[in-house]
Amino acid sequence: VTAITIDEVLDLERFPLHAPASVARQALVRRCREQLDAGGMFTLDGFVRARAMTQIVADLSPVISTQAFTHRRRHNIYFKREVEGVHADHPVMREVETVNHTLCGDQLEGSAVIAIYEWPPLAQLIADVLGAAKLFTMADTLARANVMAYRHGEALNWHFDRSEFTVTLLLQEPHGGGEFQYCSDLRSDNDPNYEAVGRLIEGRHESVETLALSAGSLNVFKGRNTAHRVTPVEGDRERIIAVLSYYDAPGVMFSDEERVGFYGRAR
Ligand SMILES: [Fe+2]
Repeated sequence: VTAITIDEVLDLERFPLHAPASVARQALVRRCREQLDAGGMFTLDGFVRARAMTQIVADLSPVISTQAFTHRRRHNIYFKREVEGVHADHPVMREVETVNHTLCGDQLEGSAVIAIYEWPPLAQLIADVLGAAKLFTMADTLARANVMAYRHGEALNWHFDRSEFTVTLLLQEPHGGGEFQYCSDLRSDNDPNYEAVGRLIEGRHESVETLALSAGSLNVFKGRNTAHRVTPVEGDRERIIAVLSYYDAPGVMFSDEERVGFYGRAR
């Protein structure tokens, strides 16, 4: 294994994260903030260099096919069994299925995904765009960075995120399907808007948007009140995506119960 440097992996000419005082990085932060304010997300297209992408996928594919945990779960949009004031027959309580094949942080050690995750200028860029002083990697060795593969017919179904924001890196696009769809500000912190959530679940909501993400793109998405899903993958090429988890405090861990739920093991 040859040692690789971060600038062989990331396109630092286009995205000069390594030069915090530079005019170019200041302009990048401004552009990202504009995107975030306008649409609740920002994307760095081509953040990972094409050659590095090929290598990352070649390294990960055999690990996915032999070691990944098959995560299969029926859930409603809230990941909750009961919601106060909502009848069990209400459309918002309808269950949908999510299936993927997950590699945990401990199975990614030494990989380029972890090198990107732990590279401090990335966390600092995201913090600067979100208006946080500093963001921290997780202490949880399983949850800190994950790679998920979705095969033919598999999907990440409708949900709201529990975390304030989610950072993903798309590693491989499928031949068909696997589209990221979202319904912006479907609810708010003050208004659960069950009527509109119900329409979404019944496939009757009029403003579902689709985001075209290409492999190598970094996306930061605020999904607490924006419902989102990934449609079922079609064809024999997996959709492979890395999820990088940062928090505004150091030392954050999942509970054992959460680890078992997501990864099938607590340790
Ligand atoms: Fe999500």
